[in-house]
Amino acid sequence: MRFRCVFKTSLANIKTTRSRCFRRSYSQLQPQSDRPSFGIAFDIDGVILRGRTPIGGSPRALRRLYRDDGTLKIPFLFLTNGGGVPESKRASELSELLGIQISPRQVVQGHSPFKEVVNWYENELIVAVGKGEPAAVMSEYGFKQVLSMDEYASYFKDIDPLSHYKTRGIKQTYDENSSKELVPRYDVYSDRVKAAFVVSDPSDWGRDIQVLCDILRYGGLPGRDKGHQPPIYFASDDLEYQAAFPTERLGMGAFRIALEGIFNSVSGSPLKYTSFGKPNPFVFKNAEVILTQLVSDIYHSQDNMDGGTGHEFSTLYMIGDNPKVDINGAMKAGRPWFSILTRTGVFKGQDNDTQFPADLVIDTVEEAVDHILKKEHA
Ligand code: G3P
Ligand code: MG
Repeated sequence: MRFRCVFKTSLANIKTTRSRCFRRSYSQLQPQSDRPSFGIAFDIDGVILRGRTPIGGSPRALRRLYRDDGTLKIPFLFLTNGGGVPESKRASELSELLGIQISPRQVVQGHSPFKEVVNWYENELIVAVGKGEPAAVMSEYGFKQVLSMDEYASYFKDIDPLSHYKTRGIKQTYDENSSKELVPRYDVYSDRVKAAFVVSDPSDWGRDIQVLCDILRYGGLPGRDKGHQPPIYFASDDLEYQAAFPTERLGMGAFRIALEGIFNSVSGSPLKYTSFGKPNPFVFKNAEVILTQLVSDIYHSQDNMDGGTGHEFSTLYMIGDNPKVDINGAMKAGRPWFSILTRTGVFKGQDNDTQFPADLVIDTVEEAVDHILKKEHA
């Protein structure tokens, strides 16, 4: 229920925060009739990349969406459930890996909608969990009192009884060889954690499940009396995803199941949580808004005066590798979304997925782009 409001806020914000620089670099004076009536959303893991390696002819495919002078010709964005770094950093990383110029606005990550709840927790203590730079992501969104799980856990002596066995273990604030203790940036011993955000795939499940259970069972104050469960938000709920290893890896949804099972057993009450990311249809609605703005940016016109809402797409293509997430999401969003399933990631079958059949199944992203451009005479 909450998401409906969140999404409305998101639309309003997106309409008012368009980047002038981006608009300038992509704008071309073109007649209205030349505007593409279609846009493309690309999943990343299992479609564009495996780990950090481009797959399925993705650099060649993406280059076809630009003009010879390097400006954007076809509106497209990345719609990934992954993350862990700010959108600006991900855009630079992708630009380098794929050899094209990608704007931060073309990168929507699982945690991107977290910025829409900033006014609920702006000045409250929150903990950000996951690989990469989860606290930097949340600070960039405007959260003012955010600690990464690494830092938060480091302030509580013996909170992870197994830390000594971990070779790359966390930097303990309590150094056993010294009596000196670092002073936490926030008063973590009396300020309750008001919410936990799982920003990206956790890299130390044992420690993170332990400390999250402490936060959630004890009202945001580990080691103290039982209290109300603070809210916990997950950036996505992927059970599995395709990384560099040949078979799928456990994702954030698997972590959520593990945490939920353990929390329910130890606390005796069901974990209350909220998951963002695909396949929530609001993610696709949000993508549609961004793609509409990209059209305005490319075809700099009077749309810029009315917030870029004048353009209507006849087709929006979602190219994904995970039927449960990408195809299910596009199906839930409904027309104009058209789903294309590749065989380079989670889905490896010959025919279509039986539970969430795509509108089209194709081998690679390069073939998908070729198909789209032919169909759209672009
Ligand atoms: O952690 C990444 C993953 O869950 C999925 O990424 O790009 O396939 O949506 P993607
Ligand atoms: Mg994927």
